[in-house]
Amino acid sequence: MIALPNLTRSGAMQLADAPNDAPTVAAVVATEPPGGVRFDKVSIRFAGSGRAQTSTLAVDDFALDVVASEFLVIVGPSGCGKSTILSMAAGLTVPTSGAVLLDGSRIRGPGPDKAVVFQGFSLFPWKTVVENIEFGLVLNGVPAAERARRVDYYLPITGLTGFEHHYPRQLSGGMQQRVAIARSLVLRPRLLLMDEPFAALDAQNRTVMQEELVRVWSEYRPTVIFVTHSVEEAVFLADRVVVMTRRPGRIKRVIDVRATTGSEHWREAPLDQVQRRSDFQDLRATVWSLIRDDIVVE
Ligand SMILES: Nc1ncnc2c1ncn2[C@@H]1O[C@H](COP(=O)(O)OP(=O)(O)O)[C@@H](O)[C@H]1O
Ligand SMILES: [Mg+2]
Repeated sequence: MIALPNLTRSGAMQLADAPNDAPTVAAVVATEPPGGVRFDKVSIRFAGSGRAQTSTLAVDDFALDVVASEFLVIVGPSGCGKSTILSMAAGLTVPTSGAVLLDGSRIRGPGPDKAVVFQGFSLFPWKTVVENIEFGLVLNGVPAAERARRVDYYLPITGLTGFEHHYPRQLSGGMQQRVAIARSLVLRPRLLLMDEPFAALDAQNRTVMQEELVRVWSEYRPTVIFVTHSVEEAVFLADRVVVMTRRPGRIKRVIDVRATTGSEHWREAPLDQVQRRSDFQDLRATVWSLIRDDIVVE
């Protein structure tokens, strides 16, 4: 029988006890910054349920090394397993075969070293901005003084100064998404997992948030695995773009954006300037044509 993995999507961060993944000798000896992720031939098959008894091979033989501090973006047709891949990296879903490793240790469960930002902001409506942001720190037993220090640090960075005591319903979508991002950043995770975080925002807010994300990410450069529907967003933000096939999701192509941008990555510049570059437009067209071939209109 196939084990039924439990995919949990609700609640922006699943902060169970810290996972029992003591660093391996290789990880301790390594001199590079922490946050390297290895997808070691990961496959996942979901068992059928109810009348749909047939199982679904969602992700097939996904093998990839994400370098510490890399900004990796995954794109691909709807249903190709992007969210499932993030969920496995978060420790929320167990692969049917293969393994996901963080700094050489198998990921066995969720923890504050792996923060997740989902598309729906999933804030606690009854908590204020500050209470939402410090929630993960409270769960992890961080003392009040240290919590206040970190919240004070990230409030201005995420543009939330002055809104400390507002409730989510009093904020715009963009502001709510900032709270969700701040809530992840205060944990200072090695690995930041973002599942279409800006999909619910209008075009202007989305652009502002992309530029802000680059700014806050540059501050300490956690490893980011970012899923998006938007080819433009992918090419703008990524060090590398992973293009997936339709289900079962396999890696179709890995595109190294840095080969085009050189060491001065274009995400440091405003998007409207970057959009005018012909090399940006060419890369966007290349990625789109790769995805387009795999889209099935159902
Ligand atoms: N918990 C689950 N149980 C059964 N099937 C699932 C589950 N989660 C995802 N799937 C299926 O796996 C495939 C990939 O889903 P998902 O990772 O959400 O795709 P994407 O994020 O790329 O749109 C889809 O066919 C989806 O229906
Ligand atoms: Mg998804």
